[in-house]
Amino acid sequence: MILGAFQTMNPNGTVGVSWRDAQNTSLDFLTIDYWTKLARQIEAAGFDFLFFADSYGYPTNADGEILDRALIDATNIPMADPITLVSAVAAATSSLGIVVTSSTQVERAPAVARRYGTLDHLTGGRIGWNIVTGAAQASSAALFGEDMMLHDKRYAQAEDHATICLKLWEGSWEDGALVADKTAGVYADPARVHQIEHRGALLSAKGVYGVPPGPQRTPFLLQAGTSRAGMDFAARFAELVFIGGGDTETIKAQIADLRGRLPEAGRPVDAIKFVVGAHFVLGADAATADDARARMLEFATLEQAATTYTWLTGIDLTAFPPHEPLPDLYTEMGQSSVDRYMNPQTGIRKTPHEVLTEFRDNGINGTVFVGSGATVADRMEEFLSYVNADGFLVQPHVTPGTYDAFIEHLVPELRRRGHLRESSTPGTLRARIFPEIGDHLPDTHVGTSFRATPSRP
Ligand SMILES: Cc1cc2nc3c(=O)[nH]c(=O)nc-3n(C[C@H](O)[C@H](O)[C@H](O)COP(=O)(O)O)c2cc1C
Repeated sequence: MILGAFQTMNPNGTVGVSWRDAQNTSLDFLTIDYWTKLARQIEAAGFDFLFFADSYGYPTNADGEILDRALIDATNIPMADPITLVSAVAAATSSLGIVVTSSTQVERAPAVARRYGTLDHLTGGRIGWNIVTGAAQASSAALFGEDMMLHDKRYAQAEDHATICLKLWEGSWEDGALVADKTAGVYADPARVHQIEHRGALLSAKGVYGVPPGPQRTPFLLQAGTSRAGMDFAARFAELVFIGGGDTETIKAQIADLRGRLPEAGRPVDAIKFVVGAHFVLGADAATADDARARMLEFATLEQAATTYTWLTGIDLTAFPPHEPLPDLYTEMGQSSVDRYMNPQTGIRKTPHEVLTEFRDNGINGTVFVGSGATVADRMEEFLSYVNADGFLVQPHVTPGTYDAFIEHLVPELRRRGHLRESSTPGTLRARIFPEIGDHLPDTHVGTSFRATPSRP
């Protein structure tokens, strides 16, 4: 079972205004100690990676002004830059993967390639890139002085962006290009370092990559975003996909849909691992877990849920009649969060009150497991086999409380059932997730088609 921990550099968890909880230490989120402690704790428990979601966008009204409520509650703002934490977390751990989100709208591809390529070295091959076109596009684009690019065009740009990165990682430095021979006085062999070129519909690049290949060469590639364009993108590039919440049928349909797109991209149906975001509220028995769940909801309000929904989609659900089924909604911002309630595959059509209540109680990713270790482990197994997914992203409510309870009550049960490893040996993130593939991209991934033809045998 793949296990990741979901975090942002913001003091809230993923339900409500949890920084206010007396047990939460999350107001320390701008210290290195807070993160290295958490990383060590989850590494020892057998987690595969620590994941940082990220976005420049914040909740705004129709005029693009920040909502007061967002600042009061700390909903999606503040949001500090998690890439700055990677080296510190890597130094504090030895086998934990570290996955950081970077948006193809906000960043420029050669800079992303160089940053993640450098981190591939510094982490010993434990870095992963969560490729997103970005949540909260309206405020993010305005911050950068740009008009918001339309949804599907953003994915067209993402295609160029990812292709440029892959060409730089795979096509510039051949194996053996790094010589580093002090006697001969040769650092790199010019015959084995190639200029790449990409002329895309929206982005172009020409030049040589600045970093010799790291342990993974191409950092492990993840994606989140299950709109149609998002799934086409994932089918081409992703090795692991994060699935958000919604009911079990929606999740099952999304995974089947995306797996079905893989053959067209020339990849086997098991080329992508699916990891579902979920809450875990554990206790020694059902009653204790239920109490913990009730406490978790103390700081969750419909108002805060509406703010988060606006952040994701740009849609103000409070503007609709609360108890009438929603009309067709379309957004040029994040479509996955609209599809979650209006999914054409399942015919779901909820009222604003239902959507906001679910959002308030379950947070952005939706699936919730409450109970004792044995009960939750049973449900996790059933869930994964029903939806055909490979693991979970544990979404915190309070830190370290969520992880303390998960580790105390659930981890021993998962170990007993053979779902978690007893100990971890250092290695790359790709080899950890795909032991049969190893450190580098498999031949069926489009990235390998950009490899340079060796100039010498
Ligand atoms: C578990 C999970 C993590 C995500 N992390 C991010 C993130 O860090 N940054 C981001 O902009 N979007 C993230 N997303 C995706 C957004 O929710 C949104 O779907 C996407 O950015 C827009 O693409 P779409 O229109 O295909 O939905 C995440 C989604 C899931 C399910």
